[in-house]
Amino acid sequence: MHCIKKINDDLFWVGVNDRRLAMFEGVYSVANGVSYNSYLLSDEKTVLFDTVDKAVMQRFFENITFALRGRKLDYLIVQHMEPDHCACLSELIIKFPDVKIICNSKSLALIKQFFDLDFNFEKNAIVVKENDTLNTGKHTLQFIMAPMVHWPEVMVTFDSTDGILFSADAFGTFGALNGALFADEVDFNKDYLDEFRRYYANIAGKYGDQVQSLLQKASALKINMICPLHGFIWRNNFSYIIEKYSLWSCYIPEEKGVMIAYASVYGNTENAAEILSCRLRDLGIKTVMFDVSVTPASFIVASSFRWSHLVFASTTYNAGIFITMEDLINDLVSHNIQNRTVAVIENGSWAAASGSLIREKLENCINIKILDKTLSLKSSLKKEQLPEIEAIANAIAAGFTSNSTSASSHAKDVNTASIDPSVMFKLSYGLFVLTARDEDKDNGCIINTVMQITASPLRIIIAVNKANFTHDMILKTKSFNISVLSETAPFSIFQQFGFSSGKDKDKFKDCGYSDRAANGIRYISGYVNCVISANVVNSYDYGTHTLFTADVTQSFVLSDEKSVTYQYYFEIIKPKPQAQKEVKKGYVCKICGYVHEGELPEGFVCPLCKHGAVDFEPI
Ligand code: FEO
Repeated sequence: MHCIKKINDDLFWVGVNDRRLAMFEGVYSVANGVSYNSYLLSDEKTVLFDTVDKAVMQRFFENITFALRGRKLDYLIVQHMEPDHCACLSELIIKFPDVKIICNSKSLALIKQFFDLDFNFEKNAIVVKENDTLNTGKHTLQFIMAPMVHWPEVMVTFDSTDGILFSADAFGTFGALNGALFADEVDFNKDYLDEFRRYYANIAGKYGDQVQSLLQKASALKINMICPLHGFIWRNNFSYIIEKYSLWSCYIPEEKGVMIAYASVYGNTENAAEILSCRLRDLGIKTVMFDVSVTPASFIVASSFRWSHLVFASTTYNAGIFITMEDLINDLVSHNIQNRTVAVIENGSWAAASGSLIREKLENCINIKILDKTLSLKSSLKKEQLPEIEAIANAIAAGFTSNSTSASSHAKDVNTASIDPSVMFKLSYGLFVLTARDEDKDNGCIINTVMQITASPLRIIIAVNKANFTHDMILKTKSFNISVLSETAPFSIFQQFGFSSGKDKDKFKDCGYSDRAANGIRYISGYVNCVISANVVNSYDYGTHTLFTADVTQSFVLSDEKSVTYQYYFEIIKPKPQAQKEVKKGYVCKICGYVHEGELPEGFVCPLCKHGAVDFEPI
């Protein structure tokens, strides 16, 4: 019996879950199963995006037969020739002999390698290259090459009509779908992030540069949905997965902490690893531990992509590294592990060798810092070696206070008494109207942080307070305009865009000075000297604010007037607070002039402009 899911009026998930598979690709255990996603677009022409693994072929054909509702299949797009996605190709051709196969030249060669097909490729194969398009009626499909994400022939497809990216293996997750189809239907962060990471690290982890290249190409697209070949479909929260992919593909640890992997035959190496873990925890450092003979390597590889510091503790075996540890180290080297600090513990009852051999294997990896001293055990850890364990723990801890890169670095141990927040007002800032559009909703707010960070590509960075509705719109739509305010800007513009939320009002109503840029988003056409349109490449969560990096897609000058600075705004534009005769005690917001009577409660935020207590001064 068919089991399909409707994605929208034209698009159906016709994939199949497999919970019987023990080892994906023969090497990755999948206790929670795996989904082989396939999608059927029902336009004036019918289009199938990939097939599925042979093990679930029967259900797959029931699905496409039902989804086609008696129509013929016009096109099969082969995005990836790995057999978990193309195994049903020959049976598909038998069932739909007139189908046209759309693939690139590399896929075509692989099709001929994998199958001995009675198929007229000259007539019925359409070989596409970068940015070729196919019109299927209402929809236009654009083909984008993504070599080595995961195989050399991989391509992804962008449906520019609906903004859907069919992303092949990219953004895939291990695990069957269990009735849900969209990532927002489950607690992804809690229940699936580990498997999302394990899939990435093991399947695409080696190919960071190529993943970066795909991210770069995708950043130019206006994406509303991402449909991968495994796991959930994404229809929002794209910054969440793009941020993960950006970190992983640059081999930047997600978190500061220590992954300890040990190989121990009789428990003595494990004992040393365990004591080190305790000392690290005593120092407030997160640790995770794996017995490499028990936990499959794919989980430890994934964990190594997560944590900033790695410890390998191995007994010596056959004058080498213990078998399962050697496999793990080889696996990590093949997956291109980089940018980590490593500590090594070895054990050897008569000729310890594992430590130097582990070092040798890791030394050629990029930016792997191996702590100088290997802790060398002779059969078991001795009391007099405890200081050596302490020394390793302290050396790791010292790295935590240095500026080693990690996405979750937080300012710790900061002496706030030594910080004068008024110093921030000495920095030069501009003032900008940041605008976004989500479907029919236009909105804008005032920000003060816009900066060019690279010239090629022309890339800027903006910081946006999460309390702003515009912030949420940009997170969702990934596009915005910046209107650079000039010194001619009246206070009313700041009131209009800075002192109220666009959630419940139309900030552009009766605004006689706005127009739309090429991206369809409004910009301010009066009192500004230039406009910049940009597409978000990455977003970084910094608590109260999100930092968006974005590529400039359009920019134009409107006048020669000087850009307004924060200081000019304070001194010239912003009306001075009136003497508050009746107010006995209170504070006034230096940003927008809002007056709060009485003491400022802890954590107070200006209800108008969302600035904190630090921006208030006593009346
Ligand atoms: Fe899901 Fe690379 O195949």
